[in-house]
Amino acid sequence: MKVVHTIEELRDQLRGQLRVSFVPTMGNLHEGHLALMKTARHHGDPVVASIFVNRLQFGPNEDFDRYPRTLAQDIEKLERDRNVYVLFAPDERELYPEPQQFRVQPDAGLGDMLEGEFRPGFFVGVSTIVLKLFSCVQPKVAVFGKKDYQQLMVVRKMCRQFQLPVEIVAQETVRAEDGLALSSRNTYLSPEERAEAPRLYANLQDIRARLQQGERNAQALEASAAQALAERGWKVDYIAVRRQNDLKPPTPEDMQQGEPLVALAAAKLGKTRLIDNLELD
Ligand code: PAJ
Repeated sequence: MKVVHTIEELRDQLRGQLRVSFVPTMGNLHEGHLALMKTARHHGDPVVASIFVNRLQFGPNEDFDRYPRTLAQDIEKLERDRNVYVLFAPDERELYPEPQQFRVQPDAGLGDMLEGEFRPGFFVGVSTIVLKLFSCVQPKVAVFGKKDYQQLMVVRKMCRQFQLPVEIVAQETVRAEDGLALSSRNTYLSPEERAEAPRLYANLQDIRARLQQGERNAQALEASAAQALAERGWKVDYIAVRRQNDLKPPTPEDMQQGEPLVALAAAKLGKTRLIDNLELD
């Protein structure tokens, strides 16, 4: 694997390559990320991964400074796995050599709800860095995880609306045995919090079970799941049953007619904010 830090080195490595398959990350790699690399390998060649902790997508009170940076271990994992041909690990001066005066802004209906409501500016930061990375790497395919369901949808729509010639491939969420979705932020959890953390996914599974038993009131499903978590000490940002297609709340007709739905959740356990989701069809 070649590790490059500048756009110029990256372009040298990729000259003439027309089927580049790309996986953007912020590092601290775990099995979820590695699954994306493997999927990328099935969709193109060579596989390029990036590691860049993007300041633009962090709010002023978020964890940018303490986000785990583990480049040496990440390189070891990628070397062992042998799916990635080039790792692009730029520093901030390379990607933001001057203050960023142009940003990609998803409209309110997409970027300001759910994650966007609780993390203002998050999807502007994500869309802007993904567009910049796409312009550096010029991939034919890029792989994103369903773990960040709304992010996947925002990136898909950005590509469609800007007519970017990049196919977006979705990777299923990789979980620990007890159901907890793997995440770099899991490293913040104390042992007690780690033991409690799988409840988030368990509650999404409860929503699915109640839907299968015939419950058709989306708000009732959301409210009882949120209450169950709150009773166990979680601080819930949202638990929402939405349409897979546009992440809007389902109408009563949608609930009756089997519109594909997804349950999305974000909640804090102590200081750590976890997100997860489950498709309900
Ligand atoms: P990061 O959180 O490092 O995630 C990188 C990619 O890995 C994303 O597509 C994410 O959805 C996927 N991923 C994370 N955990 C996963 C899991 N348990 N199962 C499957 N996929 C998983 O998401 C970002 O970085 C950034 O916002 C980024 C897109 C790189 C832009 O800065």
